[in-house]
Amino acid sequence: MTPEQFIAGLPKAELHMHIEGSIEPALMLALARRNGVAIRWQTEAELRDAYRFTRLQDFLDLYYDGCRVLLQVADFHEVTRDYLRRAHADGVRHAEMFLGPQGHTTRGVPLAVVMQGVLSAMEAAEAEDGITSGLILVAQRHRSEEEAMALLAEAEPWYGRILGFGLGGAELGHPPSKFERFFARCRELGFKVTAHAGEEGPAAYVREAVELLHVDRLDHGNASLEDPALVQELARRRIPLTVCPLSNLKLQVVTDMAAHPLKKLMDAGLCVTVNSDDPSYFGGYVNDNYLACQQALGLTQAELAQLARQSFEAAFMPEAQRAQALAAIDAWVALADTDVTAAATSLLPEASA
Ligand code: ADE
Ligand code: ZN
Repeated sequence: MTPEQFIAGLPKAELHMHIEGSIEPALMLALARRNGVAIRWQTEAELRDAYRFTRLQDFLDLYYDGCRVLLQVADFHEVTRDYLRRAHADGVRHAEMFLGPQGHTTRGVPLAVVMQGVLSAMEAAEAEDGITSGLILVAQRHRSEEEAMALLAEAEPWYGRILGFGLGGAELGHPPSKFERFFARCRELGFKVTAHAGEEGPAAYVREAVELLHVDRLDHGNASLEDPALVQELARRRIPLTVCPLSNLKLQVVTDMAAHPLKKLMDAGLCVTVNSDDPSYFGGYVNDNYLACQQALGLTQAELAQLARQSFEAAFMPEAQRAQALAAIDAWVALADTDVTAAATSLLPEASA
């Protein structure tokens, strides 16, 4: 079995992707046309060509601009349904998706429109493909804590349909400490909380996310390695990291895949997971991310399976479903092992006689 085949059949959870970062160029153009929104690009090739970034802010400028094509319930439904279809095709059994409502409500799109489109697509994906999903609303960190609080209040009608709240956007200059009261309120209300930290920012931001925001998971967390005591603490408490390798490459957080810290983070005993972040902008869905790491870092089948197991360990999902998913990984690994044996046996002279 090739690494591609092993990864393709490996049951996995995806825990770090932004719905708005999964608008494929074809859909972007179709929605722009359908909604009469002027965009700078006329073809898919032009759009793909524009996706060159030297840092996070370059990407965020394009990403927020791209959000303008999303206006109707059907638009939010389509982009979410498309992502879940691709995830399902990649062997994802459970996806926890980020949604950034402020990128829409500040353009005059009502939150009800956004939520109706996204939630109906999540229901359709579960009914049609059996993939389960959850929603994490992210506050934009360049905005104020008051605006984050307003988002939390506005989301109240959907509290029963939301897993948690997170923090995304421009990291440098906007430390987690800016959102301490917002996170405290989210936790009081019983929500899971995550924060982007240590993507472009320093280990000190990761520490703040853990110590001040009390996050259940860290999004990215690459910079943790700068602080050995922090790494020990993350390992001891098994606070998961949702790492996004191709995103890191495209945003020049790493110079090349061979320099990616994924393996170092795993070797330090951290609960690392692999995710796509903004798959249409960064050139790959979750399996592309697993494969890029396998190739550049020489990951073994056992290490790939460990990453998949950790994705379910880190998921905000019911225990029975988690146990089922972990058993499915064991079954796939056993099958891959027999496949290797079968292939080896077929090379023996007795087998071909
Ligand atoms: N929003 C979407 N993608 C992001 C990323 N990689 N970092 C911070 N905020 C984001
Ligand atoms: Zn992200």
